[in-house]
Amino acid sequence: MKVLKLTVVLLFAAALIFPALLPTTRAGDDPDEAPTTDLNRLTDDLFNGFGARGTPIDECEGEPVPNRSFEDNLFIFDELETPDDGLGPTYNAPGCGDCHQNPEVGGISQIRELRAGHLSGNGNFVNPPGGQSLIQLRAVAASIQERLDNAPQENIRAFRTTLNVIGDGFVEAISNNTIQEIRGDQPNSFRGTIINVPVVEANNELRIGRFGWKNQHASLQSFSGDAYLNEMGITNPFDGNGGRVENNSLGQSVAAFDLVADPEDDGADVEAFANFMRATRAPGRGPITNSVQRGDALFRQGNCSICHTPRIVTADTGTLINGGAFRVPAALGNKTIRPFSDFMLHDIGTGDGIVQNGGNGTRNMVRTPPLWGVRTRVELMHDGLSLTFNEAIQRHGGQATPARNFFNNLDSGDKADLINFLKSL
Ligand code: HEC
Ligand code: HEC
Repeated sequence: MKVLKLTVVLLFAAALIFPALLPTTRAGDDPDEAPTTDLNRLTDDLFNGFGARGTPIDECEGEPVPNRSFEDNLFIFDELETPDDGLGPTYNAPGCGDCHQNPEVGGISQIRELRAGHLSGNGNFVNPPGGQSLIQLRAVAASIQERLDNAPQENIRAFRTTLNVIGDGFVEAISNNTIQEIRGDQPNSFRGTIINVPVVEANNELRIGRFGWKNQHASLQSFSGDAYLNEMGITNPFDGNGGRVENNSLGQSVAAFDLVADPEDDGADVEAFANFMRATRAPGRGPITNSVQRGDALFRQGNCSICHTPRIVTADTGTLINGGAFRVPAALGNKTIRPFSDFMLHDIGTGDGIVQNGGNGTRNMVRTPPLWGVRTRVELMHDGLSLTFNEAIQRHGGQATPARNFFNNLDSGDKADLINFLKSL
């Protein structure tokens, strides 16, 4: 009893001294834990209960039907397209599942993308000819290959690694207020930057961005519409241009290489991609040893947890989000998630100079990447150029300098514990 009392007093004292260490829970909530995957394709169940599960698709027996079930949508997400389906003329890969694949559909891969641009005379970021920073690294014909030889002025270049989408339905279901509250709790020197970005399926209504390395999207449907066009070359009603404008080759028309009339998808596939992601469980933890538990405490003590927020509660079931275009279903609503991200932009000295949907001030900011599932990532940070957790930590400057210094001042046993903690995520 005494021990319990003392613990309560200590916890209370800790809460006064370290408000940022407190979990983000709204009063009156008793939220369930989100179901998690074990990140093992051989044993896993990815499905979180949103919509019908369905049965695995066998094309010999019948074609998938978009949005009929999780299994249909998983098949469509993982399907490879051809030029007859509208693939290209310039593109990056033939299917979402080609890049989002490790250790299972929706995960990551070693595929990195190239973005480029330049600064105008007054210091503003300018996209390459053609209007967007993403360079398509594949084309259906050699003559339309995008090459920076044809755009030598584009001297800002950046690589971006593929992000995990497993569990992203829970991220979409975080309310704007919750992100604002997390920001309000952050000490000034750590405080994240919020950007509001258009939700295409809600008439471009603005919502707090939380997806992509630059927080360039707020909804999974808008991200999917963008990716279908920009990664695969498939025009669709949610691609930001109403499905009317095909990709180009650094501003040159590729119409002569396009076999299919626009829009190449009527939007059903885009909804299937979004609903597949919404129906996935959250990435689950690896084994939790004593060393991992000690590392967890150090992660909080060193204030890594101020940006890599350990715990968030999603909006209540039934809340209208995405500018009114989506209602949070029971499978995603009022759930405790452990994403280890505040979903905000920060300048930790790694900025890649590219602006997407944010103002020029975001040029050198990067979204805190969620650390759930980070044990599947070998190539770390936005550019994939850090190959160990220690290397990734050493690149934390700017707003994260005190956290890096904390790590560097640990003794070797404590350092190993903190790294073991990261390896358990
Ligand atoms: C060529 C590889 C590639 C293909 C194909 C691809 N992606 Fe991605 N995906 C990426 C990369 C790289 C990022 C990080 C992009 C960035 O922010 O610069 C990403 C990010 C995402 C994100 C944001 C995840 C997050 O949590 O922030 C979503 C959602 C997504 N992709 C969905 C899709 C869908 C849907 C498709 C198919 C229409 C698709 N992707 C096709 C490589 C790919
Ligand atoms: C001020 C906010 C902030 C703090 C504090 C912070 N980080 Fe980060 N962290 C980031 C951002 C932003 C990135 C992405 C940078 C990039 O990709 O260029 C990142 C990236 C990472 C990555 C790479 C993840 C991936 O998927 O590639 C790891 C690992 C990581 N941080 C661990 C830590 C640890 C451990 C600490 C404490 C010692 C810490 N961070 C403190 C903001 C922060």
